[in-house]
Amino acid sequence: MRFDSLEYVALRVLRRFFFTEKRLAAWGSRLPYYCVNQGVTDPTAIAAAYADDLGRLGVPVPGKRIIEIGCGSANGAGYALAAMGAASVVCHEPYALHDVGLDAKHLEAMVIRHPGVKFSVVRRVAALTDEPDASADIIVSNSVLEHVTDTTALFAELARLLAPGGVMLHRVDYRDHFFKYPFHFLLYSKRVWNWFLNPGDLPRWRYDDHAATLARADFDVSVLDFTRDEDGFDAIADRLHPDFQDRDPDILNIVQATLVCLRRPGGALPLLDHPTGGTGPPGPPRLVELAHDFRHVRRHPH
Ligand SMILES: C[S@@+](CC[C@H](N)C(=O)[O-])C[C@H]1O[C@@H](n2cnc3c(N)ncnc32)[C@H](O)[C@@H]1O
Repeated sequence: MRFDSLEYVALRVLRRFFFTEKRLAAWGSRLPYYCVNQGVTDPTAIAAAYADDLGRLGVPVPGKRIIEIGCGSANGAGYALAAMGAASVVCHEPYALHDVGLDAKHLEAMVIRHPGVKFSVVRRVAALTDEPDASADIIVSNSVLEHVTDTTALFAELARLLAPGGVMLHRVDYRDHFFKYPFHFLLYSKRVWNWFLNPGDLPRWRYDDHAATLARADFDVSVLDFTRDEDGFDAIADRLHPDFQDRDPDILNIVQATLVCLRRPGGALPLLDHPTGGTGPPGPPRLVELAHDFRHVRRHPH
């Protein structure tokens, strides 16, 4: 076994069996390569990225009913969206405990900067089942879809919640979250991954898995941005587990993507209307084009 694989397996086993969520919360910031969730450190940046992406699609935040999926331990991005003029924001988080202190810190920062805003439009829920049908104009998530085990169930629920003509935007991190080795999790069988290495919430979805499941849930799927790590992928390409060997390397090497999903039939929101003028971006490529020739999609400049 090569040294990198040895190091990877040793650290992944340690992460799985020793670093419980409680220990990670206490020591995580001191561990090399450990990333604290952005929702903890800078939720305003998450909301700004959502607004920027939605703006590129011609969908303004003000007046919209928004649901954020998997917001994490606090509602920070929700408060920031409220400050941008959202009519309401539901912050959905089924697993992470509500960190009341952190939440208060994020809220206080927003109240000081936006004293006239009614932050009571932000509501936290652990389950979506009580939310009415078609009650969201916009659904967003940041670094969540890569952690969702049952995507079929989640997407069916989101299809119920998204109003016809609404838009979903999912910012997805397709890297192995042991960030030093962004693709090493593709070297192991499902059984080895799930029994010994999976930290518990990384089903190893690739972009095309999500796109196919979203399409089955009746969404029109396209990609607004994506980035690849070709060098990182090349470093492990000859060692892929057979489960991944037949898959398109130009899909497997995608490390980040922003998925845009429209609920059929579309049209209620001005998706390609650009109220600020200018030419605006070209329409995002459709799923079918992506599946056939992903490499022709424009690369995001970041
Ligand atoms: C990496 S954290 C991201 C948190 C936050 N969005 C951020 O950017 O900081 C992933 C989040 O997804 C949530 N999650 C996992 N499975 C989920 C599901 N089926 N539905 C909704 N959220 C889920 C987790 O509880 C966790 O809070």
